[in-house]
Amino acid sequence: MDILLRTERLTVRKFQPYDGDDLAEILTDKDVTYFEPYDTFTHEAAVAEASKFSESSEFFAVALEDKVIGKIFFSKREYGTYEIGYTFNGKYQGNGYASESVVAFIGYAFNNMGVRRIIAEVDVRNERSYKLCERLGMRREAEFKQVYPSKEGGYNDFYIYAILKEEYNK
Ligand SMILES: CC(C)(COP(=O)(O)OP(=O)(O)OC[C@H]1O[C@@H](n2cnc3c(N)ncnc32)[C@H](O)[C@@H]1OP(=O)(O)O)[C@@H](O)C(=O)NCCC(=O)NCCS
Repeated sequence: MDILLRTERLTVRKFQPYDGDDLAEILTDKDVTYFEPYDTFTHEAAVAEASKFSESSEFFAVALEDKVIGKIFFSKREYGTYEIGYTFNGKYQGNGYASESVVAFIGYAFNNMGVRRIIAEVDVRNERSYKLCERLGMRREAEFKQVYPSKEGGYNDFYIYAILKEEYNK
């Protein structure tokens, strides 16, 4: 099943086409997708997305037993830098599952994938997300003003958070 890693409670693995209904619970929730750079999905589109994710090297499923409760996006940038993103089922937030899986994932990336630096782009209003970055040991490196079109009109500000391999391993 292409398992990347296991933590105390969770498994991080490749998506499978049969994860569609679980992924739909995440992507059809307008609160969960509010700060994401895409619109809320229909159920049908989310099911199709699971098939696409299963063929992508950039998306990973976080599973609690057999249920997918989150997705991790991990995408190559320049010079050994990767961008990370994460999106968890609203019903499972507030339990430390994102912290537990993402900290293990970035450790895996630094120590097995030749990654040197990991960044996250976080809307300045997305406190749950930047609190997670800070729990992961990421530093707030920059703030960009009025870059991405907002879902309400206008343009949003975002932070860049980052962590280097030597910071993770110290
Ligand atoms: C960002 C996101 C992944 C954070 O999820 P989360 O569940 O808050 O994050 P964690 O897994 O770190 O859980 C931490 C919370 O669980 C609580 N918790 C409960 N049991 C815990 C445990 N065993 N271990 C750690 N934390 C635990 C913590 O106290 C904390 O609660 P608090 O925020 O009220 O202080 C989630 O809000 C999300 O998916 N948002 C929508 C998508 C999104 O915006 N993504 C980011 C785009 S940049």
